[in-house]
Amino acid sequence: MILVTGGAGFIGANFVLDWLAQPGAEPVLNLDKLTYAGNRENLASLDGDARHVFVQGDIGDTGLIERLLAEHRPRAIINFAAESHVDRSIHGAEDFIQTNVVGTFRLLEAVRHYFNALAPQDREGFRFLHVSTDEVYGSLAPDAPAFSEQHRHEPNSPYSASKAASDHLVRAWHHTYGLPVLTTNCSNNYGPLHFPEKLIPLMIVNALAGKPLPVYGDGMQVRDWLYVKDHCSAIRRVLEAGRVGETYNVGGWNEKPNIEIVQTICALLQELQPAADGKPYTDLITYVKDRPGHDRRYAIDATRIHDELGWKPAETFESGIRKTVRWYLDHPEWVARVQSGAYRDWVRVHYDAEPVAG
Ligand code: NAD
Ligand code: TYD
Repeated sequence: MILVTGGAGFIGANFVLDWLAQPGAEPVLNLDKLTYAGNRENLASLDGDARHVFVQGDIGDTGLIERLLAEHRPRAIINFAAESHVDRSIHGAEDFIQTNVVGTFRLLEAVRHYFNALAPQDREGFRFLHVSTDEVYGSLAPDAPAFSEQHRHEPNSPYSASKAASDHLVRAWHHTYGLPVLTTNCSNNYGPLHFPEKLIPLMIVNALAGKPLPVYGDGMQVRDWLYVKDHCSAIRRVLEAGRVGETYNVGGWNEKPNIEIVQTICALLQELQPAADGKPYTDLITYVKDRPGHDRRYAIDATRIHDELGWKPAETFESGIRKTVRWYLDHPEWVARVQSGAYRDWVRVHYDAEPVAG
């Protein structure tokens, strides 16, 4: 089996669902702390599926990790678990340091001991894949070339600094201890199950509720957007064929300023579900105070993963954003439970038990 950490969050849950939908997929042991960002309901369609074992726990809990590794003997680990929201990291960085830095360190240590005790033939195929972000590279000037894997780490936010630190630890555990690691640095994801604190889902749910659409600063910050299922296929491909010790940048060749994203969402909602009061959704756009230290531009050069591993995204931004808006329109209960906080009771209500396994 494979061990996925953070598999109840946005990308992790999409990954687990996609993984198990592949023919002949190995079972998944899913370890997630269920912070505010973890939602067990994201995995509800796997209830009763013996190929998915869910454990609530912390990647920094060495005893738990050691027990899980000994019991389940995974042949690969994919580390999604992290605190992921830049604005929260600016407000308070402690959890980011604890999970992204200390947690990754403790996970690496436990995995190193497990790896060292494996039989030589099991060591051969073992992989630790660390899921990271393009934000570790810092901010690009408008005309600068996109981030390649050679770009130096220049993180600017507490979030990106904590992810950069975790990337360095993963690299060091390979060079010093020979742990067979792979790292992916991906651009901004969007798609189903995205927690509505991030730009795209926030704009969709606010617009539908007739609330202001808060655009930071001048709205001209550029991000490189990738549909989440394309990120999942990239991770599967890197796990399958990536060169041990390498990093792979993953992106959609799809740079857009924030204001254009917000306008696109407004136009799609206008087409699919016009507001009851007849007003255009764009009336809700409200420019607000900028984020401190706001990175101006991210862009990913995905040449390596394309040329070496033959990966490319399946969705264009136009097809992916339409699917995403449609998903939010089709899942008002999911949105309502996330917004009310009821999703946090979901495990108790639906399983009538403590969330340990199953
Ligand atoms: P998310 O915040 O939606 O989910 C994170 C998950 O990790 C949650 O389920 C949470 O409960 C879990 N978690 C947090 N701390 C934990 C801990 N100590 N132990 C175990 N589980 C813990 O994040 P996401 O957007 O799905 O991102 C997943 C990974 O991908 C992160 O490592 C992030 O840095 C990276 N990434 C995200 C993006 C993006 O656009 N969202 C882009 C590139 C890379
Ligand atoms: P976000 O989804 O938080 O991702 P990240 O900061 O990791 O790139 O934000 C994407 C962009 O959208 C970023 O430039 C900040 C901006 N933004 C807004 O303008 N308004 C908002 O309410 C949010 C959440 C983000």
